[in-house]
Order: sequence, then C-alpha cells, then structure tokens
Amino acid sequence: MNILIIGSGGREHALAWKIKQSPLVEKLYCSPANAGIAQVAEVVELKDHAAIVNFAKAANIALVVIGPEVPLVEGLADKLRAENIPTFGPSANAAQLEGSKGFTKDLCKEFNIPTAAYARFDALEPALAYAAKHPLPVVLKADGLAAGKGVMIPTTHEEAAENLREIFGGKFGAAGASVVIEEFMEGEELSFFALADGEHALAFGAAQDHKRVGEGDTGPNTGGMGTYALDELLPQALEDTIMQSIIAPTMAGMKARGMPFQGVLFAGLMLTKDGPKLIEYNARFGDPETQSLMLRLESDVVPYLLASANGTLASMPKPTIAKDAVICVVMAANGYPDAYEKNTVIRGLEKAATLPDVQIFHAGTAEKNGEILAIGGRALNVCARAKTLKEAQGKAYAAIDTIDWPQGFCRRDIGWRRA
Ligand code: AMP
Ligand code: GLY
Repeated sequence: MNILIIGSGGREHALAWKIKQSPLVEKLYCSPANAGIAQVAEVVELKDHAAIVNFAKAANIALVVIGPEVPLVEGLADKLRAENIPTFGPSANAAQLEGSKGFTKDLCKEFNIPTAAYARFDALEPALAYAAKHPLPVVLKADGLAAGKGVMIPTTHEEAAENLREIFGGKFGAAGASVVIEEFMEGEELSFFALADGEHALAFGAAQDHKRVGEGDTGPNTGGMGTYALDELLPQALEDTIMQSIIAPTMAGMKARGMPFQGVLFAGLMLTKDGPKLIEYNARFGDPETQSLMLRLESDVVPYLLASANGTLASMPKPTIAKDAVICVVMAANGYPDAYEKNTVIRGLEKAATLPDVQIFHAGTAEKNGEILAIGGRALNVCARAKTLKEAQGKAYAAIDTIDWPQGFCRRDIGWRRA
C-alpha cells in the first residue's frame, strides 16, 4: 500500500524510518519532510489541505499519518475522512483535547479523570482575585495552542498577577483569551501513549522527556531536549492504572460528547504520591518521544496505525517492545529556544550514522548543494539503543562527538534520572 506522512520533524523522520521497514508498504511519501526523511520517503510539496486530499486520491494513498497538532486542530483528518481516505489522527473536534486546555480540564472533571484542581477564567479581574488567594507555586495556562510555551509557574503572588496581565494582554495572542489556573503537582513526569480508534484504546509505550533547555533541568522550557525509554519507566501495574483511570474515561467521555478520539492519545502525566495525574493531553505523537518509541518498537507499526484509522484496534495484540533501553538526544542551534542562526552547515553525519546501534533522525534540516543545513531550532536527534541506559547514553554521545556543527549544542545529561 501507499502511505503519506504529513510533517517535517524528528517525529516524522522516526515514523517514516519505522513505516518504511514494513513489508506492507509499497510507496512512502512525506510532505513537507526534511533532509533526513528525503532519504527514506519521496518528498512531495503539498501546500494546503486541498492539495493533500487531492494528492491522496491521485496517488492511491491507503493511509495518511498526520504528525503535528496544527493540521489536526485545523481539521485535516476530517477532510481526508470525508473522502474515505483512511487517516491516522483525530478530528478537529477531538483534537480539542490538545487545542483547548479548558476543554480537557472540564472533561476531566465530568469523567473523574485525575488531574490538578483548577478554575477557568475569561477575564483578567476575576483571575487576579482567584490567583491572589491561591497557594504557591500556582500554575497559569493559556487555553489555546502556544507551541509549548503557554504555561507559567509563578512562585510569588506579585509574579502571578504580572503573568496574568501578560497573558490577558496578548502575550500568547488569541490562545490567551481564556486562562486555566491550577494547583501545582509534585512528582516525576511521564509521556504516555495510547493508540485509539474511537472506541478502543491500546497502550503503546512511554518515554521521559527533558523539557528544559539546560543541564540539570534548568532554563526555559523547550519542545523537548531529549528522551529515553526503558522497561522500568512503565511497570505493567502503572500502565494498567493509567489505562483504567485516565485513558478509558477519556475515551468514554469523548464518545459521550460525540467526538470519539481516533489517533494517538499522548498523556503528559505527573506521577504523584497519589498516583498518576493528567497534566495535559496532546492529540499526536510526542517529539522527541516518538524517536525513542520507534527505536524500541519490535512490531510492525503499520498494522497499528491502520487499525486506529479503520476502527479495528480491539483485534490487535499488545505491541512487542524491546527490553533494551533507548535514548534520543536533541541537537539544537545555539540560542534555541530563543533566537538562533539559521542555515549553518552540519558535517560528519554519515560517519556518525555508521556507528553501531546509533540512529540519527533529522528535525529542522534541509539539503542544499550536497550539504546539510540546520534550518530549525531543533535540528537533529541522535539516538541509540543498548542493553542498559548507560550504554545507550555512551553510544549516542560518542556519535554526537563525531558530528561537526559548531553552531549547535545538546544537553549532556539526557537520561540522568535512571542512567
Ligand atoms: P504543559 O504545556 O501543560 O505540558 O506544561 C508544561 C510543563 O509545565 C509540564 O511539562 C510540567 O513540567 C509543568 N506543569 C504544567 N502543569 C503543571 C502542574 N499542574 N503542576 C506542576 N507542573 C506543571
Ligand atoms: N515533547 C513534548 C511534545 O511533543 O509536546
């Protein structure tokens, strides 16, 4: 069959790499792709949703895999399904789980999904009054999509008031017209994934992200500076608890609201002393979590994506996930997540990719005149798989040391909690 992937990040390169290994695949296409994806898929330039739908029909696409949240929230999956094109990804309505924090918090309340206590505000004055009495630290969240930057955790009431004025003042544009104020939860974070077909959900693994830019988890939040995965992150009992207390009521709640969820539920969890609690949902695979997930997945991924798209997940066995540990280290342009230089040259990738057990996924890269240029903040994902996390770390950092990119950096401590 022919498959089309939408996206251009490390997540999509990892998906393309894994999908390409499936004996079910004849032709793999990707739009808009990056320099790494171009090595495994045919790149097509599809400029809008109509172009994607038309291409899918013309190229006899049997599955469209939508990577990022923006096209989902904009309704790309709805348009494809309206033309009977099997699609991996939720409808625009169901993608509100990611697109509106208030929507998700209200769903949690109605369906008893464990999460931080909260209140929602559409105006500054009542939000200021509520925050002034809230215990510290307090968590402030712009309601809409803010590229992972819409969360503030002030530690004084003065700072909280200032932050609320910024959010309602337009710091996050329309995303901040509504604000969620919630309780601060203590614990370790976990990115948990479940495939869903509207009716059923199937656990699909977990990874731990490192969101802060600096070593020791310091500095501003980013899209993610690295992930790792290994068995001890997700004992069976924890997986069962998450599926029962969080994923199952979410599936039931979305169905009850007339917007059954199809695609991947990415639950950002806090593992508190009272059990796992939902921080937020994403309606797509994580980046860079997917890189670690795909590297550990032994099963063919295509039947799972198809089962999600076609509503047949109930008949799928649990996926086989390797016992090995995996790590994914992000290399980003100096300055990221703030301003950074673009179009710098990355050298040494071919040699690094030949090292044993190492896999390099591209994120913000482009090829020009035979050279690989960094065109985005997060440019590369250097990944490795080994018996232990420590070994995987050693292999990934050894590969990084052979990459010649003076304008780039990485965190040297990915996996520190368990290595
Ligand atoms: P989000 O964009 O909702 O994932 O939030 C970004 C980060 O803020 C999360 O990964 C957590 O580290 C932190 N965070 C969000 N909500 C809370 C909360 N209620 N308690 C503690 N930390 C939180
Ligand atoms: N790495 C976090 C995310 O994909 O949102």
